[in-house]
Amino acid sequence: MSRIISIVNQKGGVGKTTTAVNLASYLANMGRRVLLIDLDPQANATSGLGIDYNNSPIGLYEVLMGPQGLRDAAMPGPMGNLYVVPSSQNLAGANIELVGHPEREFRLHNEILNVKNDYDYIIIDSPPSLGLLTINGLVAASEILIPVQCEYFALEGLGQLLNTINLIKEHVKPEINILGAVMTMYDERHKLTRDIFDELYRYFPHKIFRTVIPRNAKLAEAPSFGQPILHYDPLSVGGRAYGRLAREVDFSTI
Ligand SMILES: Nc1ncnc2c1ncn2[C@@H]1O[C@H](COP(=O)(O)OP(=O)(O)O)[C@@H](O)[C@H]1O
Ligand SMILES: [Mg+2]
Repeated sequence: MSRIISIVNQKGGVGKTTTAVNLASYLANMGRRVLLIDLDPQANATSGLGIDYNNSPIGLYEVLMGPQGLRDAAMPGPMGNLYVVPSSQNLAGANIELVGHPEREFRLHNEILNVKNDYDYIIIDSPPSLGLLTINGLVAASEILIPVQCEYFALEGLGQLLNTINLIKEHVKPEINILGAVMTMYDERHKLTRDIFDELYRYFPHKIFRTVIPRNAKLAEAPSFGQPILHYDPLSVGGRAYGRLAREVDFSTI
């Protein structure tokens, strides 16, 4: 049974893409068959894995809008077992173009049904909004992973996100579950982040990953080389943390 994990938080800059890219590559390195779907028009996950979507005539936009499927769009990633469905800027139009589409919330879900059995994990990197693209990612998911940046306004908007997830669960797809929250960019010297940790437990009792991702410059540098941290600097504290997160995700069941 494949696990479909959407990485979601409508705030930008909280570590969604960093988590998507590095979780996907460590899972692939563990021998799992992984498909990473880049649902963000900014295409940071695509470029962060060294993939030039200009080389690909079929990206996620074409899959959502046209007759092609995910199998036509998947490109080999930087390591065996990892495939990537690239985003591109025209995906930004999809938020509006999908509005008139029948089953507009189910476009990605329906496409994933055709390739599900090819993979152990399908990881979806979401854009920073709760628009139709993100909704497609939520509806397609079996599990939702929420990166939370350790900073003052980290919890702002989480209520709205959990509400949206509950509405989808009630009205559209009962079988989605919150896998958990992952604390990102953690700096243990700051008391502030400990307060946030305590507060977060009120939102996610039992659902916070034990692995906390530290703030680490290597994680920020790696994408400019088009490499996951596993290739760029696996021994960095950030690299080791994402390795642990991948094992924790792989062990976890809901
Ligand atoms: N743990 C971390 N330590 C240092 N920099 C990070 C870390 N996680 C993410 N970053 C950097 O912070 C910025 C935002 O991260 P990103 O993953 O793109 O967030 P999002 O996808 O939620 O917008 C990027 O420049 C990224 O390289
Ligand atoms: Mg992103």
